[in-house]
Amino acid sequence: MSYDFDTPVSRLGSHSVKYDQRQARFGRGDVLPLWVADMDLAAPACVRRALAARVAHPIYGYTHTDAEVYEAILDWQWRRHGWRVQPEWIVLLPGVVPGLDLCVQSFTQPGEAIVVQPPVYNPFFESALRNERRVLRNPLVWNDCRHGMDLARLAADLGAHCRLLHLCNPHNPGGRVWRRDELTALGEIVLRHDLVLVSDEIHADLVFPGHRHVPLASLAPELAQRTITLNSPGKTFNTAGLHTAYAIIPNRELRACFHAGVRRLHLEGANLLGLVALKTAYREGEAWLGALLDYLQGNLEHACRHIHRHLPLVACRMPEATFLLWLDCRAWCRTRDLDDDALHRHLVDAGLGLTPGTQFGTEGSGFMRMNVALPRARLDEALARLARALA
Ligand SMILES: Cc1ncc(COP(=O)(O)O)c(C=O)c1O
Repeated sequence: MSYDFDTPVSRLGSHSVKYDQRQARFGRGDVLPLWVADMDLAAPACVRRALAARVAHPIYGYTHTDAEVYEAILDWQWRRHGWRVQPEWIVLLPGVVPGLDLCVQSFTQPGEAIVVQPPVYNPFFESALRNERRVLRNPLVWNDCRHGMDLARLAADLGAHCRLLHLCNPHNPGGRVWRRDELTALGEIVLRHDLVLVSDEIHADLVFPGHRHVPLASLAPELAQRTITLNSPGKTFNTAGLHTAYAIIPNRELRACFHAGVRRLHLEGANLLGLVALKTAYREGEAWLGALLDYLQGNLEHACRHIHRHLPLVACRMPEATFLLWLDCRAWCRTRDLDDDALHRHLVDAGLGLTPGTQFGTEGSGFMRMNVALPRARLDEALARLARALA
């Protein structure tokens, strides 16, 4: 079966954050928006068909979650990632980010510290700060266009006030797929310091050949007992607007505590259409996902080649996962004596809306994140604008 990712799908007027809020965000309505991490590619036909069939029924009242949803999740985790999950470990959520906040509220007290590894997806910091927790930064090291963890520094900096660590696995924005040995070393520190580990694995299905996602909780039973894994089909199948995600929590007490938080906010009833999409995508979407990964890999390689050829002062490397390129623009900024705001403005003036690296922490200064999940011809237009701005 062939899949068409090349034909552009207009998102104008679809209430897309990326397209329909350009004027407000960038001050002009004609930028090519390559920032928010969703795709300008249609969701799989099987998901669209299942949604259309459910929408055809004219009543959208309260619904219950059937056993098939849980089965779809555990089959997916086993087939794609070799992790055996039990149905009772799963707690449905309206998003991964609410899951981050619920973990902070459930497992830490105000004033305690959450460990984050910047540059990293900004809600990792924000979920700590908006709940009056402190942030302990364990910055990643950037070597040869690739992030690594600084575990010696983590071991040295951890104190009694640290309760919880937010891990981004695979990593956004750097695109690393943490290897088994890296996760094992991190896990040893987590065990030694009696931390709860929150592993955000929303990018786990978007891993390219040569790399393999290791669910943190699958590493060892003692790690599973202190890990909350957060996931969703939202990135993989481009269904983020349906707000349906899940936590996997093998430990009974942690799960009860997390569940109490879910109940307090009355978040238990999952989104009717989100459940239809999740079930269908996980059961029938695998062939589409294979084709998507080929397409994304092609786009990423194409973009890297273009940047290496035409932008000598911008450095990047093919990510191991995600549809996001992490562009090191520091050399370019130095030659112009420009700061982050000026770099961002300069790109907007050239018609490109990227995510400033500083959104992921001060460690992202001088970097930009570029989303390449779009038809190739539009990517070419974006690369031409990038070259005009930064060549
Ligand atoms: C690492 C990570 N976690 C969570 C999310 C968002 O998850 P949700 O939309 O389910 O809240 C994103 C979106 O970019 C992400 O990159």
